[in-house]
Amino acid sequence: MDWNHNTHYHAALLREVPPRYGRALDVGCGDGAFARKLASRAGRVDAIDADAAVIASARDQSPVPANVLFILADFLAYPIDPDAYDFVAALSSLHHMPFEPALEKMTRALRPRGVLVVLGIWPVVTTQDRIVSGAAVVANRTYQLLRGPDRVTAPTAPPTMTLDDVQVRAAQLLPGARVRRRLLWRYTIVWTKPG
Ligand SMILES: C[S@@+](CC[C@H](N)C(=O)[O-])C[C@H]1O[C@@H](n2cnc3c(N)ncnc32)[C@H](O)[C@@H]1O
Repeated sequence: MDWNHNTHYHAALLREVPPRYGRALDVGCGDGAFARKLASRAGRVDAIDADAAVIASARDQSPVPANVLFILADFLAYPIDPDAYDFVAALSSLHHMPFEPALEKMTRALRPRGVLVVLGIWPVVTTQDRIVSGAAVVANRTYQLLRGPDRVTAPTAPPTMTLDDVQVRAAQLLPGARVRRRLLWRYTIVWTKPG
C-alpha cells in the first residue's frame, strides 16, 4: 500500500478502535485505505467522500470487503441517523469542511460511548510549528528513503486553522477530548461520547 502522511498514522488510529464493533463511518474516505482496515473488525463500514473520482477508485480496488459501502456524497448534506455509529473517523478531511458543523454532525452520528478519531493537519504558523516542522522534514526524508515517495490520490486542501485554535475549539465542542500534535504535520483528536 502507498505510504503517505495519513497512512503513516493508521496504526496509531486503529489502536483507538474497539477490537470488535458494529458500525463505523469514515468521513472523507479518499481511496478507502483506512475503511478497508476498519472493515476487518466492523459489522459494517460506511465510507463517504464527495469526490466522484476517488469513490470510483475506491470501488475499483478489489476486493472491496462485503461490509464496506463507499458512498459518493457531501458529508454535510448526507442524511445520517443520530447515534448510528460506534466509531467515526475523519482522516485529513475535517479541514475541507466548516469545523464546527462538521464536528457536530460527526458527534451526533456517534452512539453514546462511541469513539471519534480525527487526523488533522496543522499549518506551520508558530515558532513551535516551525521547530517541529524542521524535525518533520528530516523524518520525512528518512521515511521516503525507506518507503518510497509519499503519494496522495484524493483531493487535498491547505489547512488554515492553527493547532492552538483546534485545541480551544475542540475543548468547547468535545469536552475531555485528547488533542495531540503528531510529527508529520498532523494532529489527532480522540474523543469518547459521554454515555
Ligand atoms: C486529503 S483527502 C484525505 C482522504 C483520506 N481520508 C486519506 O486519509 O487519504 C480529503 C478527502 O476529503 C474529501 N472531502 C472533502 N470535503 C468533503 C465533504 N464535504 N464530504 C465528504 N468528503 C469530503 C475529499 O474529496 C478528499 O477525498
